[in-house]
Amino acid sequence: MSIFSSCKFVPHAILLQPKASLKTPNQSLATVHCTKVVRNVNLEKLRHNYLFPEIEARALEHMKKYPDANIIRLGIGDTTEPIPDIITSNMAEYAKALSTRKGYKGYGAEQGHKALRKAIAESFYKDLGVKDAEVFVSDGSQCDISRLQLLLGSSVSVAVQDPNFPAYMDSSVIIGQAGDFLDETLKYKNIEYMTCGPHNNFFPDLSTTSRTDIIFFCSPNNPTGHAASHEQLTQLVEFARKNGSIIVYDSAYSVYITDGSPKSIYEIPGSRECAIEISSFSKIAGFTGVRLGWTVVPDELYYANKVPVIHDFDRIVCTCFNGASSIAQAGGLACLSPEGFKAVMSVVDYYKENAKILVETFTSLGLVVYGGVNAPYVWVHFPGSRSWDMFSHILNKTHIITVPGSGFGPGGEGYIRVTAFGQRENILEASVRLKNVYL
Ligand SMILES: Cc1ncc(COP(=O)(O)O)c(C=O)c1O
Repeated sequence: MSIFSSCKFVPHAILLQPKASLKTPNQSLATVHCTKVVRNVNLEKLRHNYLFPEIEARALEHMKKYPDANIIRLGIGDTTEPIPDIITSNMAEYAKALSTRKGYKGYGAEQGHKALRKAIAESFYKDLGVKDAEVFVSDGSQCDISRLQLLLGSSVSVAVQDPNFPAYMDSSVIIGQAGDFLDETLKYKNIEYMTCGPHNNFFPDLSTTSRTDIIFFCSPNNPTGHAASHEQLTQLVEFARKNGSIIVYDSAYSVYITDGSPKSIYEIPGSRECAIEISSFSKIAGFTGVRLGWTVVPDELYYANKVPVIHDFDRIVCTCFNGASSIAQAGGLACLSPEGFKAVMSVVDYYKENAKILVETFTSLGLVVYGGVNAPYVWVHFPGSRSWDMFSHILNKTHIITVPGSGFGPGGEGYIRVTAFGQRENILEASVRLKNVYL
């Protein structure tokens, strides 16, 4: 039974506490009128994701202790550089036109503007056979992850990389695919965790991976920064095809790839029959606040009963979404014009240069560093240490906020993630501070 069933008002801050502290409800909580509605059992199972609130709480504590410290935030993976003018001008023009009789437009197509679907297919999937009609424009890939879960339902089995971007796991729990969270293993029951680390070149050992219906796979990976090679993705596609599984491939960071690794799962032969791809303008164009993404569902992808998956996804999008903001879509279209793409890629290059500085910094300290080449994340290894200890150590010595790797799953223990999103002067200052400190 839930500890909150006594109908106490539970402040949001308490819900964000680590699970252990939820076991001692605050006696001073105000009693409120409760409905008779039983809480969704899946949400009861969900382990509160306290990673970023916990980081924030520790940062606040640190600021109290060192009120004059200039804290550098290299934690949350949010973009920091302005969106190029060529893109915002297009959005502004579109928005202004909405105030005119001629330029006013209401609902658009739920699947996205035709011109943008076409531009996405041509820009990101040239020669890969992706048709405009297979591209569904959205308000970001995090939202699409949940819409895909709604599509898949509670009875499918799921595999995730470990460590992983938490939205796959949490949405699996919310929809009812996962069992209880086990404190001993720090894993949910009924979920296949595919450990990815330096020991296996950040690619799961598929010979020991159990068959699941769905495989969430992110490349370049958040948090490890690893971009899967052609050979690794070929193995993944073969594995999925052999098992009759569907891969949900997250390519949110594909534009950061520079070493020739595949930017899309559709570069792998046979993938159209076993993979959905989700992606986003967030990290391509600083659209984290604007909100724009897309999902590709190939029309060769079928359920066991020969119904095309695209048919159901279209239904989900029409029922549960109603289309991305037309202003955001005008921005997306501007990003994909030749000048717009050049402009956004120069911002991507700026972040990549930041990543290079961070990699060089940690390497010069004698640490082993992964990522940072094909992704805006640097994954720093502290063998034998605990992630939260290293987080605190770095914060105390340098006033720099990072993310403890264990927050991305048990496979992230012993690492910290450092984001390359940030202003150059902060990155350079962080580099100086880190180099001056014996870690
Ligand atoms: C791997 C990955 N997928 C998806 C998202 C969410 O992106 P969006 O802003 O499009 O919802 C993020 C955001 O950090 C991410 O790291």
